Amino acid sequence: MKLIGPFKQIVTLANLPLRGKLSDEQLEIITDGGILVKDGTILKTGNFTALKAEFSQIKLEEIEGEQVCLPAFTDSHTHICFGGNRANDFALRNAGKTYLEIAESGGGIWSSVLHTRKASEDELLQTVLERINSLISLGITTIEIKSGYGLDVENELKMLRVIKKAQSFTKATLIPTCLSAHLKPKDFTGSSEEYLQFIIDEILPKVKAENLAKRVDIFIEKSAFLPEESRNFLLKAKELDFEITVHADQFTSGSSRIAVEVGAKSADHLEATIDEDIEFLAKSNTVATALPGASLGLGEKFTPARKILDAGGILAIASDWNPGSAPMGNLITQASILATFEKLSTAEVLAGITFRSAFALNLEDRGTLENGKKADLVTFKTDNFQNILYYQGSLKAEHIFIDGEKV
Ligand code: NIG
Ligand code: FE
Repeated sequence: MKLIGPFKQIVTLANLPLRGKLSDEQLEIITDGGILVKDGTILKTGNFTALKAEFSQIKLEEIEGEQVCLPAFTDSHTHICFGGNRANDFALRNAGKTYLEIAESGGGIWSSVLHTRKASEDELLQTVLERINSLISLGITTIEIKSGYGLDVENELKMLRVIKKAQSFTKATLIPTCLSAHLKPKDFTGSSEEYLQFIIDEILPKVKAENLAKRVDIFIEKSAFLPEESRNFLLKAKELDFEITVHADQFTSGSSRIAVEVGAKSADHLEATIDEDIEFLAKSNTVATALPGASLGLGEKFTPARKILDAGGILAIASDWNPGSAPMGNLITQASILATFEKLSTAEVLAGITFRSAFALNLEDRGTLENGKKADLVTFKTDNFQNILYYQGSLKAEHIFIDGEKV
């Protein structure tokens, strides 16, 4: 057992609703606080001096200077297992080329597939670990990672095995997702419906047998998979007992409806979601995940986060870190920028990258600082929590704790 502190402020994010809008006045802030940790779990939060007096023999982990402590963040949507780089896509986009033109000139998702197929497991493991460490340094200790750059049995399994192996090298929690339905691979001879059936018959059973992922994702879009075939695929994946998440409404609306109808845990992107569908989504238990990094990467509009919250939806915010649409990999910067464009309160943003994004991954043991929760913490050297988003990511995390231990 040990006591961590003192903190100028502890922002616990406790006792807040899972859904809907939040104001900063609703935030519980413990000033001059301490956190009591036992076996990786929070036992108590409260006034540091009082806790020290109550547990006089206890080991102390002293915090220097004025610092603010929050629950560590959860990035619930990334594609950080990939080979190569797509800087040329960026140049082509800025020269006015369309998505299709870029794909035709050798860029796009398919080019990342070719690089990822070429990479060995060891090479992929090294790069994914570097990206994981970079996320940890931002205060993110729970990271979802998708496959989807293999797109055949061998390479999809390779990606998921790499993610599984990465877990044995990091204290961060990694949540793998099978995104074999990212795109119909160019070397698959058959229709996209046949490819989706191939995933059901040939990939998912192996994913299950090796326990490589419990979640299945699909990119529903004109350039990827159409709504009806996607719905059938998702229902079959559900029958195989996978949890569902969807790349929905990125450029065209309609697919968030499918996500809700099949009971997806989350619908992610939503840049193009129409008002009617926002209402539908917001009334459901499907988490609406904004990916501001993709809006910034592509120069597209932001997810209507304000409308989603006002309609009572569960809003998470994630980085979408990938080599194509979202190469930045800085969730704090992206979430801060989303706040300015969508007029979000600090409380709404912090909820979106802590307990609400953890909920999107079915992890209800983290994301707030209260008794019984996982002692994953992030601290910032500042006297006021508002400064974290105000500086748009340039105020760096000072300490990161996982299970109560500094990493
Ligand atoms: O979430 N939209 C589809 N998939 C990714 C992009 C992946 C890529 O371009 O490599 C996304 O933005
Ligand atoms: Fe994505």
